[in-house]
Amino acid sequence: MGGFSAFLFWFLASHSFFTTLSFSSNTLTSTQILRTNQTLLSPNQVFVLGFFQGTNPNMYYMGIWYNMDDRTVVWVANRDTPLNKTTEFLKIGENGNMVLVDPSGNPVWSSNETKANNPLVQLLDTGNLVVREANVTDPTKYLWQSFDYPTDTLLPGMKMGWNLDTDTEKHITSWKTTGDDPSTGAYSFKLDKYGLPEIFLRNNQNIVYRSGPWNGERFSGVPEMQPDTDSIVFNFTSDEHEMYYSFSIGNKSILSRLCVTSDGQLQRLTWIQSSNIWTKFWYAPKDQCDNYKVCGPFGNCDSNASPVCTCMRGFRPKNQQAWNLRDGSDGCVRNTDLDCGSDKFLHLQNVKLPETSNVFVNRSMTLLECEDLCHRNCSCTAYANIEITNGGSGCVMWIGDLIDIRQYPDGGQDLYVRLAASDVDDIGSAVDSHKNHRAEIIGITISVAVIILGLSLILCKRRKLLSISSGKTDQRGSFPRSRDLVMNEVVFSSNTRNSGEEHMDDLELPMFDFNTITIATNNFSEENKLGEGGFGIVYRGRLMEGQEIAVKRLSKNSGQGVEEFKNEVKLIVKLQHRNLVRLFGCCIEMDEKLLVYEYLENRSLDSILFDKGKKHILDWKRRFNIICGIARGLLYLHHDSRFRIVHRDLKASNILLDGEMNPKISDFGMARIFGTEQTEANTLRVVGTYGYMAPEYAMDGNFSVKSDVFSFGVLVLEIISGKKNRGFYYSDTDMNLLGNAWRQWNDGSALELVDSSVGDSYSPSEVLRCIHVGLLCVQERAEDRPTMSSVMLMLSSEASLMPQPRNPGFSMGRNPAETDSSSSKKDESWSVNQVTVTLLNAR
Ligand SMILES: *[C@@H]1O[C@H](CO)[C@@H](O)[C@H](O)[C@H]1NC(C)=O
Ligand SMILES: *[C@@H]1O[C@H](CO)[C@@H](O)[C@H](O)[C@H]1NC(C)=O
Ligand SMILES: *[C@@H]1O[C@H](CO)[C@@H](O)[C@H](O)[C@H]1NC(C)=O
Ligand SMILES: *[C@@H]1O[C@H](CO)[C@@H](O)[C@H](O)[C@H]1NC(C)=O
Ligand SMILES: *[C@@H]1O[C@H](CO)[C@@H](O)[C@H](O)[C@H]1NC(C)=O
Ligand SMILES: *[C@@H]1O[C@H](CO)[C@@H](O)[C@H](O)[C@H]1NC(C)=O
Ligand SMILES: *[C@@H]1O[C@H](CO)[C@@H](O)[C@H](O)[C@H]1NC(C)=O
Ligand SMILES: *[C@@H]1O[C@H](CO)[C@@H](O)[C@H](O)[C@H]1NC(C)=O
Ligand SMILES: *[C@@H]1O[C@H](CO)[C@@H](O)[C@H](O)[C@H]1NC(C)=O
Ligand SMILES: *[C@@H]1O[C@H](CO)[C@@H](O)[C@H](O)[C@H]1NC(C)=O
Ligand SMILES: *[C@@H]1O[C@H](CO)[C@@H](O)[C@H](O)[C@H]1NC(C)=O
Repeated sequence: MGGFSAFLFWFLASHSFFTTLSFSSNTLTSTQILRTNQTLLSPNQVFVLGFFQGTNPNMYYMGIWYNMDDRTVVWVANRDTPLNKTTEFLKIGENGNMVLVDPSGNPVWSSNETKANNPLVQLLDTGNLVVREANVTDPTKYLWQSFDYPTDTLLPGMKMGWNLDTDTEKHITSWKTTGDDPSTGAYSFKLDKYGLPEIFLRNNQNIVYRSGPWNGERFSGVPEMQPDTDSIVFNFTSDEHEMYYSFSIGNKSILSRLCVTSDGQLQRLTWIQSSNIWTKFWYAPKDQCDNYKVCGPFGNCDSNASPVCTCMRGFRPKNQQAWNLRDGSDGCVRNTDLDCGSDKFLHLQNVKLPETSNVFVNRSMTLLECEDLCHRNCSCTAYANIEITNGGSGCVMWIGDLIDIRQYPDGGQDLYVRLAASDVDDIGSAVDSHKNHRAEIIGITISVAVIILGLSLILCKRRKLLSISSGKTDQRGSFPRSRDLVMNEVVFSSNTRNSGEEHMDDLELPMFDFNTITIATNNFSEENKLGEGGFGIVYRGRLMEGQEIAVKRLSKNSGQGVEEFKNEVKLIVKLQHRNLVRLFGCCIEMDEKLLVYEYLENRSLDSILFDKGKKHILDWKRRFNIICGIARGLLYLHHDSRFRIVHRDLKASNILLDGEMNPKISDFGMARIFGTEQTEANTLRVVGTYGYMAPEYAMDGNFSVKSDVFSFGVLVLEIISGKKNRGFYYSDTDMNLLGNAWRQWNDGSALELVDSSVGDSYSPSEVLRCIHVGLLCVQERAEDRPTMSSVMLMLSSEASLMPQPRNPGFSMGRNPAETDSSSSKKDESWSVNQVTVTLLNAR
């Protein structure tokens, strides 16, 4: 695209066809004409309407472009009917139409739809060219507008889709040759209104890529699309009159456009003021799995796997030979034929929903009703919720093959696929090694459910659990086998689930027997002690089965009641992400409260990052991976569809590392459940760690996702520099790490911040990008800090829009008014494997 702009600029400049504007007004009335050597400007001079030359020197086009040196054309009036050089002018003709006429007065192009008495042509600052009555009370009543005739570009406010009343449609189509031939090209991006609407990128008639259906928040196939990416708001509207996609930009000084290029790429481009270039904010198709149908019917594509295609559980490759040669296009077939009545459903998570052009849709049904309907209709092969917001709603049901499914690490959707009962029951023997495990215990087959119920009942005696008398337990080990807990695909039998909320709630909370834990931790012995956090001691343990665990024994004075505690644990058990430490369950016995976590081999980040002997293990690649992992984990906490969790004590000792040095956030016990509306809260008791706390939190106790973003920024700068954010390391100056980073950034010597243990093998641009992100996150004013979704975008793309940071909070060693001494004191020493989920009631 940059090439295109540059080329266009070159050719426009070198052909010097454009002349300075000779129209002071931004309107054209019926008595005026616009000559081909003149232009029309929008009121604030954002856009220009004028004429430009195509490939052939005799071909002229009327178009709209940004009023900048880079003359990117966003709309062309006569893309397929170029004008001769001799064409004279644009005027308003009879009926109030806009007409381009040649010297003999013959129309070459016409807007031929308007019927106006006193017409006026106007170019708006949105880039919309409109015809309206000259003096009407409502100037937004257009008789004709260029936004109804998109070329290859979707501008903010432009709608793409269907007017169902008139059955008309608008979409974008590429130029034939990007940069010099605006005539209709091969690629189009068009909303399909059938079934559950989605947008297809086509090469002539062949589908190349699809967006996936809109799920209330984003397109199913575009997990990067976050509802509150600071500046761009995406909007998909569907009612009985119209159905369209559009986007808007809150900040008028940001320019962004979506276009389809002549080589078949869909691109969102954003203007970078400081460097005067358009950069790719997002694009598709991006990887092999974006290619339509690459894994055939019932195949699932995972771009992080090799080969990318897999068959879903219960399916096998249809053409094994081709499959072995990495040609997945024949897809998969069932191992066992369906039987209708006894079939069950396989729960796939984080997928792009299969193609929805031929599906049954009911927006008012719940997931349970949907399941029921699908179960009763033998030709139904899968079902899912339509919207993911507010816990999910609506029903979409597939009939026949499931096409073009792909697996995302996170951000996808849940899909329930019909399988023969025998293929589902097989699940116990097949341990899936998928990375993400959002296992919901509700989903486990009835047999597993009974075991857990039995275990909970017998082993955690003091709990008043369900009155089920099942005796199926393992006397020694009360630990539900790990494979049951970390299953990615969870299966349930469709006719045994409707047992109501309460049962599910209890099933979601695996309980451990106190004696088992005592044995596992060798009677809470000193040798098994891993560390001590603000709210209790952490022990390493090994269950009878060999499973290693980390046990947090909460201080007895944690002040929380059993019900509150259980509620907190239930919430935390549900938070599952590969960058969060997994909570397996808890134990409550007398006044003891224990939390059982996964154990991570490489303990906490601070024990390596700040250790002179070990920090060299963290080369730049690992550090960058850690930064991105923490960002993903935090993004999940902040934007999980059901809750909004603020961590409130993010720091290096709360980042644990697994055997492959992947980071996992621990200790999100201070997190509070936020209602979806609530974004900021106030607490009387500030709990956090000096050095990581945002100013507004440390001083006034105001916490929000933005105070976590601050802590994240501190962490990023610590990971890059290998230094703690304290005055301590800078004895020659009273600046702490933030102050120092800020000074070096402004001096242009930011790379000096990099830890010498990293060596030379790093990409300076990547490091600078991280420092830039770090500084944006630690800005003093919470409003200036980006959200984690913007952080992810900035980290993952070379080209995202990054504002200049303002000065960081606490950069001059200013002391916060109040800190929790118990927590900050502990931070002085390395806290190894400090899985301190502290369940604190600070109200
Ligand atoms: C534009 O073209 C007209 C004739 O077509 C000419 O009279 C006029 O001077 C030109 N204006 C400029 C600014 O070149
Ligand atoms: C443009 O000019 C060419 C000759 O130069 C002529 O053949 C053609 O018909 C003209 N087209 C229009 C639309 O006037
Ligand atoms: C409108 O203009 C197009 C060409 O731009 C032409 O094909 C069509 O016949 C015109 N319709 C009317 C009603 O004039
Ligand atoms: C429209 O404009 C004319 C003059 O241009 C004026 O006389 C007339 O009153 C206006 N009509 C309305 C409805 O404002
Ligand atoms: C989408 O746009 C329509 C019309 O422009 C507006 O009514 C609606 O509120 C918007 N929806 C969202 C979620 O912004
Ligand atoms: C809009 O963006 C510009 C440039 O990024 C920035 O200077 C300005 O403060 C922003 N305005 C608002 C209201 O966010
Ligand atoms: C959608 O489902 C609801 C609830 O089950 C039902 O009342 C309604 O009739 C259904 N609508 C259609 C069009 O099937
Ligand atoms: C199953 O659902 C499809 C789609 O709604 C419908 O066409 C078909 O008649 C249904 N079959 C039965 C047996 O209900
Ligand atoms: C565990 O410790 C308790 C008291 O701390 C003691 O009474 C008990 O005998 C110990 N058990 C074992 C197996 O060491
Ligand atoms: C990290 O864990 C792996 C696997 O247990 C181990 O081989 C490696 O030595 C550990 N690294 C450190 C620094 O502890
Ligand atoms: C904290 O919140 C209160 C009330 O919401 C507000 O008055 C105060 O200015 C905030 N403090 C900071 C530092 O933002």
